[in-house]
Amino acid sequence: MTAPASATTPFDVTEIRKDFPILNDASRTRPLSYLDSAATSQKPAVVLKAMQDYYIHANANVHRGVHELGDAATSRFEHARHRVARFLNADPRGLIFVRNTTEALNLVATGIARQGGLMSSDRVVLSVLEHHSNIVPWQLERSTHGFAIEAIPLLPDGSLDMAAARKLLAPPTKILSITYQSNVLGIVTPLRELIDMAHEAGILVAVDGAQRVPHARVDLKELNCDFFAMSGHKLYGPMGSGVLWGKPELLSSMSPFLGGGSMIDTVTFERTTWAELPQKFEAGTPDVAAAVGLAAACDYIDSLSYEAMENYESSLMQHLVQMLDSLPFIEVYGPEDRTQIVGAVSFNVQGVHAHDVGTICDRHGVAIRVGHHCCQPLMRHLGVPATARASVAVYVTHDDIDALQEALEDVAAIFARVIAPYSPATPEHRHA
Ligand SMILES: Cc1ncc(COP(=O)(O)O)c(C=O)c1O
Repeated sequence: MTAPASATTPFDVTEIRKDFPILNDASRTRPLSYLDSAATSQKPAVVLKAMQDYYIHANANVHRGVHELGDAATSRFEHARHRVARFLNADPRGLIFVRNTTEALNLVATGIARQGGLMSSDRVVLSVLEHHSNIVPWQLERSTHGFAIEAIPLLPDGSLDMAAARKLLAPPTKILSITYQSNVLGIVTPLRELIDMAHEAGILVAVDGAQRVPHARVDLKELNCDFFAMSGHKLYGPMGSGVLWGKPELLSSMSPFLGGGSMIDTVTFERTTWAELPQKFEAGTPDVAAAVGLAAACDYIDSLSYEAMENYESSLMQHLVQMLDSLPFIEVYGPEDRTQIVGAVSFNVQGVHAHDVGTICDRHGVAIRVGHHCCQPLMRHLGVPATARASVAVYVTHDDIDALQEALEDVAAIFARVIAPYSPATPEHRHA
């Protein structure tokens, strides 16, 4: 099958694929259709080169050397901070380099709770869409500080129940911590509306932006959230690169997350005082090469243009979801209005465990993700233990989607005996 007619775009994916060494790896013995970028993206050569260049020309520890290399490393690290802040249109004083979204959300939960911002009479609101990294850090703090946690429920199609959200965004809620885009259903949450509702009630908002930044321009000044977490490795940046951005006045009043070198002003055995932002939250030796690589990834994305990228990816998603919907043995999860499925789509082959689907796809050289996707509460809502998930990125082609179709037809042939005539169950039926 070829791309849908509406998918005409000036985006030159053949050229883009040349930028990604792993997609042109001559040592591979079979083709690769990488449909697992929601787990981690592949990295363009410019990112790898920036990191290597840092190690060859500027490697030293930062913020402490009086020598030339120490200055060079510090300058590249701080340049990276400003570059990533500019990418997000955010104040660089509030930009903390962390390893990933998980660490960023742990930093927020710990920093607020330890400083006394969450007491036993308070409530934290999450949603049923959340990744475990936006559930477990709050539960860890709850075990010490005793506050309540509640989750905004979902409508049967997986979108947020906004009437329920409105009720929860009121006293005693102190914090709303919520995803911008679901890693399972591809649903984009109505974040502007939620932030406005929360702020009217004096509630702080932390956003899990892990799945949003790879697919759409995020402008933090415009969004006006209080905290924003993201992983660089899903954004064509290196493993070990991530960001927590927070409003500087909030970060200043929060407790540090990790203690040690670099994050202090003075230390005595009686009392320690903290460094200014952002160092207060960057204890120990940072991963300078990861920060430098993430800055190079921002350059790379800006060189492509988000608009062209969004258009191209939406043509891929249209093709992908239409293909899945056309196969009678597949159940797709998410809104009936398929245009609301962005970046990633979840599905199951009727009667076949997602792990078997993933294994057979792999035999065809098609990499998809299978399992609970670190979203067990959402799996419970869907009434399934696991799903298969295909996700797109700038280097995915329409041929990759055709390869997935072939692999899924093979799954159907292998499991022909267990695939009954298709009768999609509604989420309510599955719960019964
Ligand atoms: C929505 C969402 N939040 C958080 C995470 C955690 O990201 P990381 O493993 O980089 O910390 C993921 C990873 O898949 C995710 O998809």
